[in-house]
Amino acid sequence: MNKERAGVFIAFEGGDGAGKSTQAARLAAALESRGYTVLHTREPGGTPVGEKLRSLVLDHGNGDIDAHTEALIFAASRAAHASQVIRPALGRGEIVLTDRYIDSSVAYQGAGRNLGQDAVRSLNEWATSGLQPHLTVLLDVDPGMGRRRRTAGQAAEDRLESEADEFHTRIRGAFLDLAASRPESYLVLPAHLPVEDLAERILERVDTLLAGPPEAVEDAVPQPAVPGAAIDGGGP
Ligand code: TYD
Repeated sequence: MNKERAGVFIAFEGGDGAGKSTQAARLAAALESRGYTVLHTREPGGTPVGEKLRSLVLDHGNGDIDAHTEALIFAASRAAHASQVIRPALGRGEIVLTDRYIDSSVAYQGAGRNLGQDAVRSLNEWATSGLQPHLTVLLDVDPGMGRRRRTAGQAAEDRLESEADEFHTRIRGAFLDLAASRPESYLVLPAHLPVEDLAERILERVDTLLAGPPEAVEDAVPQPAVPGAAIDGGGP
């Protein structure tokens, strides 16, 4: 993107083993080859403090972490990510791709941990001063398939991944409900499709987004709700 228009913010969401990172990396490469400046980032993480919070919340070695603490750690990581990385990049007119964003907390902590989806959403809207993606790509994965995929590489499962299938089934339902509540802002694809097909369909949808009017893009990046909390890097 260039400085004549605001940046574009795209989130990749879905259960563990859905293939989000692969698809986000492919989209980044496709857009970069066309001359766009792309920032590919992830949650939890994306900043130095976020990466520390990531290991704090995902490693088994940290003992029991209660659900509220877990939700607050993800939200803290996201607050840093939104203010230090995402908003500045959007201010520079870049395309930001993130592996996971607010919907992950609404699904995993709100539905999976039964903290309540509305409460978790409010917490995260506060943490990010209302920064929403223009588009969310939801890769819908069957929990059994997700587990087979992620254990095939023999990687150890983290604290969340190792939860029972019923936990992952609740999360899948929550992601689908979120997409159904605002279909215009989501692209939902079955994660079992071939990687090439998924990449093609995602690029097609992103092309439509990029061809759209800049106003629609700017409108989707609300100003901070907190007085005096300026967007780093300036607006469009
Ligand atoms: P992820 O980085 O997608 O896992 P990996 O790098 O192993 O593929 O996410 C790590 C885990 O954190 C995943 O199980 C989902 C969980 N998570 C939440 O529970 N809430 C959140 O808000 C986020 C961002 C992730």
